[in-house]
Amino acid sequence: MRRIFYSVRMRAGRQSRHISGAEGIFSGKDEISQAARLYVERALSHPKGRPEAVSLKVELLDKKPLIITSLPVSTLEVNGMEDSRRKAAEMLLWLGISQRAVKTAFRILAGPGMRGAALVDIKTGRRMESDKKRGTRASRIGITKKALQILAGRLEERGIDNIRVKEALIVASKVMACPFIEAEFCISDNPDYTTGYIASRQTGYLRLPDIKRKGSPKGGRVFFVKEGARAAIITDFMEKTPVLVGKIAPVKGIIPFYEIKADNNRKPGRKEGLPAKDRARNGPA
Ligand code: COA
Repeated sequence: MRRIFYSVRMRAGRQSRHISGAEGIFSGKDEISQAARLYVERALSHPKGRPEAVSLKVELLDKKPLIITSLPVSTLEVNGMEDSRRKAAEMLLWLGISQRAVKTAFRILAGPGMRGAALVDIKTGRRMESDKKRGTRASRIGITKKALQILAGRLEERGIDNIRVKEALIVASKVMACPFIEAEFCISDNPDYTTGYIASRQTGYLRLPDIKRKGSPKGGRVFFVKEGARAAIITDFMEKTPVLVGKIAPVKGIIPFYEIKADNNRKPGRKEGLPAKDRARNGPA
């Protein structure tokens, strides 16, 4: 018999302000009820305060989730905030992202938070979302029970088994499963959490400690879009295609900048763009 999956999503807010959100993909009555209970409990005990409304959606998925492997995790060796930001910029340039696009990303991440991620053209640095306050959200995501257990064990060995890393890794793994995205750059808008990340096929999920000053509420997400890709197709994938992390890649420790570059024998090129078949499918920009 065909397995049926549900997307379970929770969001909590106060006076139209988003306080917290959580989601997963589950199958079977017990799993779904347990997730729903945990999400509501979480919404009611969030450090950002008591919500005025908690909304819970349990939605039958009309297609089978795409099963993916999580990105490998590592942490960049940095020496304070200046060093972390400089290395993050250098890493993005090394990934083939233009100076202009890197500048745009830092500007977005220092501005007022968005409800989703910004789409930035890798070459021109141009913003591509139609609604720049909303952006594009990676949703309909989850992780299998077994993969979550393995992930927790691997993160624990490195002393980083916390919910933020797990949830961000699931988001980043879906983002990088989109063939039109070259990389993601994320800085948490949580004032107490100063570790950001760059995600790409070359670096995996690369944690960036001290990427912002403690106490700063600024942050957000930027998805760098390959040349010729269309925002609408990316948004549709990010928001509608159900993706389930079913396999876990290795979790490494702290790595110096040069080692990450040396690990990749193929320097990613700026001209890489989309593979011909994707260009054809995606049409002109
Ligand atoms: N931040 C701020 N506001 C959010 C939000 C978020 N992460 N998610 C939802 N909202 C608010 C917005 O006002 C949104 O209206 P909009 O679509 O005009 O922006 C409204 O809630 C309804 O959003 P919708 O996508 O229909 O909510 P949902 O009930 O499907 O739940 C969440 C979505 C909250 C589960 C999902 O956004 C989420 O946070 N998932 C966890 C993973 C994650 O962090 N993804 C974001 C990556 S960019």
